Amino acid sequence: MTRHTLLVVAHPRPDSLTAQIAGRQYARLTGEGHTVDVLDLYAEEFDPALRPADEPDWEDREKRYSPEVHAHMERILAADDILVVFPVWWFGPPAMLKGWIDRVWNYGFAYGRSRPRFAGKRLLWLALMGGTAQEIEDLGMEPALDLMLRVGISKFCGLPDATVGVVHGTELNGVAKDLRADRVAELIATADRVVLEGLPR
Ligand SMILES: Cc1cc2nc3c(=O)[nH]c(=O)nc-3n(C[C@H](O)[C@H](O)[C@H](O)COP(=O)(O)O)c2cc1C
Repeated sequence: MTRHTLLVVAHPRPDSLTAQIAGRQYARLTGEGHTVDVLDLYAEEFDPALRPADEPDWEDREKRYSPEVHAHMERILAADDILVVFPVWWFGPPAMLKGWIDRVWNYGFAYGRSRPRFAGKRLLWLALMGGTAQEIEDLGMEPALDLMLRVGISKFCGLPDATVGVVHGTELNGVAKDLRADRVAELIATADRVVLEGLPR
């Protein structure tokens, strides 16, 4: 069955590992005959700041938000699967991605209904962590991210089966130049496995 994926990318640089992993998932999905809508938040110059037009009105779940927000809601509604690829910054998603959630995953759309608009969709948060497995474990980074993205956001918005997948050791600054290409290929392959676990074919 052909599926439609909303592929959200939150990185300022098109040559980042984040972008390369997202690119690889785009190629894989389209190569398998699926359709993909790439939402590159930086490239589209999304404004992550929540302003009054997009503040929830607890007395009106039918509130019309800004046109930009409604356009993003339509892209979510069109998707069977949502794959969000981002680097972890300070134990959480970049402000750009957090702002997309703040503004678009809004009251009356993502929550506040007996049947949230997300119902039936599959969602994977693919987080790139610079830390080593040991550092991540010692600092409790994965449980912190899981609580925020899976419980606080996904579950609250009617997606109890959403998952947070992690690729760690993504910080390549300290890696010798001649080893980088191998390391990147390894990380891209790891991301493939994590994505297929979270969003099986
Ligand atoms: C502002 C900032 C904060 C970061 N915070 C974390 C963190 O909390 N935990 C972690 O493991 N890595 C952290 N990192 C490292 C990034 O996760 C890492 O550089 C990124 O995943 C590498 O992928 P990229 O080339 O696509 O940016 C941070 C990086 C930046 C720039």
